[in-house]
Amino acid sequence: MCGIVGYVGPQRAQDVVVDGLRRLEYRGYDSAGVAVVHDGVLAVAKRSGKLANLEKVLADKPLPPATTGIGHTRWATHGPPNDANAHPHTGGARRVALVHNGIIENYAELRDRIEADDHVFLSETDTEIAAHLVELQVQSGVDLQVAMQRVCQQLDGAFTLVAVDAEDPGRVVAARRNSPLVVGLGEGENFLGSDVAAFIEHTREALELGQDQIVTITADEVTVTDFWGSPVEPTRFHVDWDLSAAEKDGHDWFMRKEIFEQPRAVADSLIGRRGVNGLLQLDEMRLADEEIRDLDKIIVIACGTSFYAGMVAKYAIEHWTRTPVEVELASEFRYRDPIVDNTTLVVAISQSGETADTLQAIRHAKSQGAKVLAICNTNGSSIPRESDAVIYTHAGPEIGVASTKGFLTQLVACYLLALYVAQVKGTRYGDEIDEIMGQLEAMPDHIDTVLTRADSIYELARAHVATRSVLFLGRHAGYPVALEGALKLKELAYIHAEGFAAGELKHGPIALIEEGLPVLCVVPPRGRDQLHAKMLGGIQEVRARGARTICLAEEGDHTIEPYADDLIRLPQVPVLLQPLVAIIPLQLFACELATALGHDVDQPRNLAKSVTVE
Ligand code: G6P
Repeated sequence: MCGIVGYVGPQRAQDVVVDGLRRLEYRGYDSAGVAVVHDGVLAVAKRSGKLANLEKVLADKPLPPATTGIGHTRWATHGPPNDANAHPHTGGARRVALVHNGIIENYAELRDRIEADDHVFLSETDTEIAAHLVELQVQSGVDLQVAMQRVCQQLDGAFTLVAVDAEDPGRVVAARRNSPLVVGLGEGENFLGSDVAAFIEHTREALELGQDQIVTITADEVTVTDFWGSPVEPTRFHVDWDLSAAEKDGHDWFMRKEIFEQPRAVADSLIGRRGVNGLLQLDEMRLADEEIRDLDKIIVIACGTSFYAGMVAKYAIEHWTRTPVEVELASEFRYRDPIVDNTTLVVAISQSGETADTLQAIRHAKSQGAKVLAICNTNGSSIPRESDAVIYTHAGPEIGVASTKGFLTQLVACYLLALYVAQVKGTRYGDEIDEIMGQLEAMPDHIDTVLTRADSIYELARAHVATRSVLFLGRHAGYPVALEGALKLKELAYIHAEGFAAGELKHGPIALIEEGLPVLCVVPPRGRDQLHAKMLGGIQEVRARGARTICLAEEGDHTIEPYADDLIRLPQVPVLLQPLVAIIPLQLFACELATALGHDVDQPRNLAKSVTVE
């Protein structure tokens, strides 16, 4: 939520910053702006709307050829998305320019305090106060780094701040509390970004910053301190993907590219998980076997799509390990006084590793003595940093706002976690674990098979452009798939879509069924208890009331044929693993329908990929 870029080096800052913003635009696209320092003067350009609007302004009137600059792409919190509220903001003397991601909670109080001294504010943002305060500090004679320290000590809330001082060219100073920031290390140039995508075309060497730290970059140096000026040794890491991973590669949307990357992403998430002794290994997990054996309960916390991955995790962990699992929306978790102690493992699932709701929930769980395991896709992000253990998913950068390969790789990580706990607790025999691993390893091919049917799913999607409402039904592991399918359609096509547990339909939602209403049904594989038969019953009930059924069912399941107006075939896989294949047609359906409706699939309205405010 909000993308931030900073640069010092030999290149033209405007170009480096705008390129960085383009790669961060998925974090917010309400406005964009850039500030550079040239000959002791600030030059600022900003525009409401997408980055393209700013680029037009810069094409007509480029900023001076400065080599120090900062930039911002906004997801609005305080103040509507207009030009005045766009970042960068400046102090009253236009000596300091500053960009911000997060919310400064005590901004009104700080603003009242200095407004009395004739400070005039030009925006409705919580950010502008920080620009004024930093400027007051540098005017008092301290350097930008000390100015930033002193200001951060006064601020409450979440913030990444990045500032430049017109009288101190060649230096960018940034601060980080509860919002993301990483440093890119170049040769004779250095970068700042909300994530590594901002500078991936220039360097793959990076530093992660911790909580309450301040970093100063010049062309040749990077210095990190805490908010009180004590030096800090940051952690260095290498980014294991390159620029091509952040390009569309011939696809119309990042999302579509990411959907088609899923066989590889799933395969990558499985690499190296079998040890030489045949045992499952999760090297980066850092939880001792005794800690796992002592676990009484697992609580999964997450938001959005990651929450639905957590629902699947519950089915898998409980089934394979007989350990009770609760799944909770991160935003609700700490406000209900959850029962958590040192025999509880909290599993936090987050693609970005920066979701504020999830981060706050982790902090609460840790304060109650729980161990926290993160399942995360983003190296150097806050959630794995603050967790006791981590399983990284290996999806590569996910740029489309609506999560796809992030979801699939989270599912894989959840299955691996479940199997690992089963191995340590001894609730499954080694050969059972081995068999399930084999089934997981076959998944990339199965996903590929579903993807080869994309054209028929696209055709089906385009036939629904006039549809205003769609229901999704599932049971067991198909229920989270129904919820995720509905979320995809809401996010991208702005169509009313709801997912239901098929058995719950008769308790109310069936009243929604009317002639012609499309109902997408995730049919479980045959041969497991009564699951398949019960699902068939639900499908018949909606069909009898006029619904048009689109059924996702495994190859060879002929029982479904009489009740399916449209039928999408899935490979034959075990019920617990079926989400890995069943979600694919729903992703393709939402992507294509949104495209046919003329929506921006990668940047749906009102959303941001990484939501760093609570
Ligand atoms: C936002 C995104 C969703 C995502 C959710 C959780 O709402 O739009 O696509 O699922 O955040 O994000 P996380 O990075 O924590 O998985």
